[in-house]
Amino acid sequence: MASTDTSAAPGTHDTRVGVSIKDVSKVYETRAEPIVALQDCSVEMEPGEFVAVVGPSGCGKSTLMLMVAGLIPYTSGAISIGDTLIEKPFTDVGIVFQEPVLLDWRKVLGNILLQVEMRRGVDKKAYKQRALDLLELVGLGGFENRYPYELSGGMRQRVSICRALLHDPPLLLMDEPFGALDALTRDQLNLDLQSIWLQERHTVMFVTHSIAEAVFLADRVIVFSGRPGTVAKELKIDLPRPRHLSIRETPEFGRYAGEIRQVFASMGILRDDMVDAQVGHE
Ligand SMILES: Nc1ncnc2c1ncn2[C@@H]1O[C@H](COP(=O)(O)OP(=O)(O)O)[C@@H](O)[C@H]1O
Ligand SMILES: [Mg+2]
Repeated sequence: MASTDTSAAPGTHDTRVGVSIKDVSKVYETRAEPIVALQDCSVEMEPGEFVAVVGPSGCGKSTLMLMVAGLIPYTSGAISIGDTLIEKPFTDVGIVFQEPVLLDWRKVLGNILLQVEMRRGVDKKAYKQRALDLLELVGLGGFENRYPYELSGGMRQRVSICRALLHDPPLLLMDEPFGALDALTRDQLNLDLQSIWLQERHTVMFVTHSIAEAVFLADRVIVFSGRPGTVAKELKIDLPRPRHLSIRETPEFGRYAGEIRQVFASMGILRDDMVDAQVGHE
């Protein structure tokens, strides 16, 4: 499969891609017994849509993301990004993991430009300007010549987001990117990510185990069951943007979060007398 990125300069993708995940299952063969990580999982994502995947630990969220990126094979079903059936690594996605994975000996700018250094025929100067613009966008203007050890955890994660976005990927995959951050930094990064998304409208698949984070960020939340993971519920989030943190205190937000909590309660993943009582009444 060829990469679809043939652009010589950044910012030339004027179309975002959709993602189609159809009846996908994944079985890990281990020396003991096979582990069914995902079963008959189907998700359709529109171009430019922000989709959050929320589910309990071990339900196959990371597995799904790695399969979408083509980094591990799926056992059955089909995954396509745009028109491309994913059968091997798809180089045109941007990926952000929980840990920032920066090179200690490279400055911030060097770490971001790493994304395009291996690509031939790209306009490096244009990418340098885009890297500086992205740093500005995430509040790190002027930090381009710092080393990773000079940055806080939140700043390092912002740098890795800039790196993932440098080549303006049509699809951004984020696997619990803010899971290791303290609550206030996490709130700030949710706001920063929203600003980036409003400006660039990438198609985003955002994995989290935080219900509030999922509702705050997404157009649509996909709720996964416990292992083997499968789609238990889909929820469209009709909240206007830009969303401010205070939206989390509104009744509408509370209703969405409550609906997701009830899915977990009905599967026995969350045991809360209050939630159980509500579930019992329906
Ligand atoms: N390489 C692997 N080999 C065997 N089992 C794995 C492997 N990777 C993940 N698993 C298992 O698959 C299940 C799903 O894992 P994962 O996708 O990491 O879940 P999540 O990201 O939702 O926490 C877990 O039970 C995990 O132990
Ligand atoms: Mg995971």
